[in-house]
Amino acid sequence: MTDPRPTSAFHSANADPAVTDRLVTALDAQAAVPGVRRLRAWAHTRLGARPGEQALDVGAGTGSETQVLATAVGTWGAAVGIEPHPGLRAVARRRATEAGSPARFLDGDALALPLPDGESDVVWCERVLQHLTDPAGAVAEMARVLRPGGRVALLDTDWSTFVLHPVAPEVRPALAAVVRATAATPDAGRNLAGWLVGAGLTVDHLDADVLLHDSHAISRPIVRGIGAAALGQGLITAEQRDRLHADLDTAAGHGTFHLAVTVFAAIAHRPR
Ligand SMILES: C[S@@+](CC[C@H](N)C(=O)[O-])C[C@H]1O[C@@H](n2cnc3c(N)ncnc32)[C@H](O)[C@@H]1O
Repeated sequence: MTDPRPTSAFHSANADPAVTDRLVTALDAQAAVPGVRRLRAWAHTRLGARPGEQALDVGAGTGSETQVLATAVGTWGAAVGIEPHPGLRAVARRRATEAGSPARFLDGDALALPLPDGESDVVWCERVLQHLTDPAGAVAEMARVLRPGGRVALLDTDWSTFVLHPVAPEVRPALAAVVRATAATPDAGRNLAGWLVGAGLTVDHLDADVLLHDSHAISRPIVRGIGAAALGQGLITAEQRDRLHADLDTAAGHGTFHLAVTVFAAIAHRPR
């Protein structure tokens, strides 16, 4: 795992089952968000994994998209998810088995993929690059394992587009700083195309959608976490934190709460 920050929830050293449960709950909730479903469907269609192809899912998480790739490549192909977090890797394996999916999962790192040059027909990498200190190096590694003509789908968040509402204007900069600090590369979304071009790939399609959270299950812990971090870093006072939580709880009750961030997607291919 290349992210050296001990505070990253996705750091593979965070093998505590409670952490894994929290990550899985968050990933499942995000997978149900309409914007994520739309963008994933768009990206899978443009990527066009075909029967018999070799597919790779870098940073597979719970393995949901590895399973989609496994279905697309069929029994003559193979879909492998690379997942360095042992808890997530175990969940991905269990879910694939339960679903009767042939998707396989391996330990590994986006910066040192356990594959020879030119072996993959398609590569998927979703919301991983934001967690890396060398995302361009990871995209170059994906280009290395792609065969000439092979395709790649990158999907990633851009944390500068984060919206939390309603929030008092004087508190907004502090919250924006806290949110950006949760990712090693917070502007990943807007850089996808640049990293692909830098790796010698040709960008074919670009799109974006919004990860708009519901106001309850996932948003409450996220908001509490942001408030606690801002207070802990001395960016807001306890009074401001309490008002933030109260305002957002009231808004949630009225249906006027917003927690959103833009996710970008880019599809590219390796020139022949
Ligand atoms: C936000 S989750 C996304 C999971 C999945 N791709 C999805 O979209 O649901 C980030 C994933 O990146 C993985 N990850 C973090 N650092 C990684 C690295 N250096 N190499 C490969 N995967 C990594 C984490 O373990 C985690 O599964």
